[in-house]
Amino acid sequence: MKIFAYGIRDDEKPSLEEWKAANPEVEVDYTQDLLTPETAKLAEGADSAVVYQQLDYTRETLTALANVGVTNLSLRNVGTDNIDFDAAREFSFNISNVPVYSPNAIAEHSMIQLSRLLRRTKALDAKIAKHDLRWAPTIGREMRMQTVGVIGTGHIGRVAINILKGFGAKVIAYDKFPNAELQAEGLYVDTLDELYAQADAISLYVPGVPENHHLINADAISKMKDGVVIMNAARGNLMDIDAVIDGLNSGKISDFGMDVYENEVGLFNEDWSDKEFPDPKIADLIARENVLVTPHTAFYTTKAVLEMVHQSFDAAVAFAKGETPAIAVKY
Ligand code: COI
Repeated sequence: MKIFAYGIRDDEKPSLEEWKAANPEVEVDYTQDLLTPETAKLAEGADSAVVYQQLDYTRETLTALANVGVTNLSLRNVGTDNIDFDAAREFSFNISNVPVYSPNAIAEHSMIQLSRLLRRTKALDAKIAKHDLRWAPTIGREMRMQTVGVIGTGHIGRVAINILKGFGAKVIAYDKFPNAELQAEGLYVDTLDELYAQADAISLYVPGVPENHHLINADAISKMKDGVVIMNAARGNLMDIDAVIDGLNSGKISDFGMDVYENEVGLFNEDWSDKEFPDPKIADLIARENVLVTPHTAFYTTKAVLEMVHQSFDAAVAFAKGETPAIAVKY
């Protein structure tokens, strides 16, 4: 059995070597190149391809892969929003993702950032770097004094809720598909509007599916409390960033944390040292004292990377054997 993997990064190699040692019967070949119509032929002769990229899996790309006989595709990440599912259906692709690699990685990061926003650490660090060790005016807010609205209570949202409870925050939540345990605790509000009206801080954990596109837009922001704090480590397209910038300018939004950005492909995970950002909005956001930008690193922990590699390769083997892994994507 042969598996061909695309986009393998150096930090994934130890996990890949570990997996290979545990599965010596599987031949593994890989490239650091991403899967494109041009690179698809590298997988020729493989039973399954393992991939991770933010670049779209277009009809052209999937056609090229199917043309070299590979229709088993195992993603090393959770998001499937960049797959052309119509094309995948046409070629009967078997697709898997890794829906639960480490909810803690993302939940922790988002809660660290939310805490940093509340304690104004960016402003404080900047002052300290300039040898200004005075307290005022950089006064913080305590988590336990906040009502935090959690939008999306899947695996990640639920870990975030537990962290928030540890801080003593009052948590309210919204999800179209409520979790029975949280429901029994009475954590849910019935509508997003209720959440917007009550929350001092809002953190998002919903997928970037079309119905959630620009969920946080001017209308939603207008329904939020004055001085609301917003944290998004879920998907960039959840935010109408122009509306967020307007909210920051007017003071309606007091602080904003983002680990994801609608136009992040080609921008995040690139080195812009000594270069101008190609996107003036990201330059503007990064320059603000009350905005924390991280380049889609919430997921990026040793545990998460190991799970992404191991689970995706396990699924690739299962597909190659004609089995359906538990993490097969139903589409
Ligand atoms: C995902 O798993 O879809 C993520 O958002 C993390 C990605 C950058 C690997």
